Amino acid sequence: MERRENIPSREEAILFLRKVGCSKEVVKHCILVSEVASEIAQACKRRGKDVNVKLVEVGAILHDVGRSITHGVKHGVIGGDIVRKAGFPEAIARIVENHIGAGIPAEEAAALGLEARDYVPKTLEEKIVTYADKLVEGSKRVGVSDAIEYFSRNLGPKHPALKRFKRLHEEISNLAGSEFNETFNL
Ligand SMILES: [Fe+2]
Repeated sequence: MERRENIPSREEAILFLRKVGCSKEVVKHCILVSEVASEIAQACKRRGKDVNVKLVEVGAILHDVGRSITHGVKHGVIGGDIVRKAGFPEAIARIVENHIGAGIPAEEAAALGLEARDYVPKTLEEKIVTYADKLVEGSKRVGVSDAIEYFSRNLGPKHPALKRFKRLHEEISNLAGSEFNETFNL
């Protein structure tokens, strides 16, 4: 399919999740992540940061599209491929690919059975979606300490992902500012 530069609408993205076979739970999760991510992006924008709010909103809707195929760690890469094949913008494919954990560097990717390259969120839009995803467990919002606890429980308290998530949290809360932090009681 021909590549589209246009970001699809939120509704079109939700329909796409259903069309490729994502479960109701996954769709619900994606919608909530999109809400949290949009709020963060808007807070950044109000503080004069250069951020594409629509890309964040729709990228967040599609971030778990790979869960139509697998819930394993490969759902990021697989999701990126689904997005590219559907002809959606490359920027969305990157959001989908790089949202796992707090990003996966090449050396850890190889150990997880992924192609040995960086799957680390680079643009602000990628970072916001990755971060917002960690503030939603299933279809419920959680705080930063819950997210850290989740990493620690699942990966062990010394896993480098914890440090990466804390760094991501510092970066996003500096950009989104106190208004955001107060709203979400972070
Ligand atoms: Fe995911």
